[in-house]
Amino acid sequence: MPDPRVQLTVDGVTHDVEVDPRTTLLDLLRERLDVTAPKKGCDHGQCGSCTVLLDGRRHLTCLALAVSYDGAEVVTAAGLDEGDELHPVQQAFLEHDGYQCGYCTPGQVCSAVGVLRELADGHPSHVTADLQQETEASDDELRERMSGNLCRCGAYVGILAAVRQAAGAQR
Ligand code: FES
Ligand code: FES
Repeated sequence: MPDPRVQLTVDGVTHDVEVDPRTTLLDLLRERLDVTAPKKGCDHGQCGSCTVLLDGRRHLTCLALAVSYDGAEVVTAAGLDEGDELHPVQQAFLEHDGYQCGYCTPGQVCSAVGVLRELADGHPSHVTADLQQETEASDDELRERMSGNLCRCGAYVGILAAVRQAAGAQR
């Protein structure tokens, strides 16, 4: 029996490929489609470096089977800019030195974009004290929501500053 076909739009480019049903979305992107912005860190859902925006929400691609996402839209950290203009989160990471080696950065950037959308949509987190009030982009909220993205270089101070700036710019 032939492998199933999957159609995916990745950073605005549509791909139609046959995939072994055991293939993760991360491996499809990196190994078959040459989309290398999402990084393979742990390959076990523990580091966040493979994060992309999948139909608008942040998602770990190492835990996703590609065959489940036929018709999905994937946006990676490389697809967030508008031509010559960086996305506010990308710009903020540059301004605040939100990276050192940069390996975790694409996942951090996608996660931050997802966090800002979750805040704008009023999604609570583990540290949201009052579910009746509008959720603030406090440092505690940002730390908690970004806590699934690990950085071996320890660039957390710059990352928090960058997400804080982007949250302010979005208001
Ligand atoms: S590579 Fe996916 S969470 Fe680490
Ligand atoms: S900047 Fe090196 S792992 Fe985060």
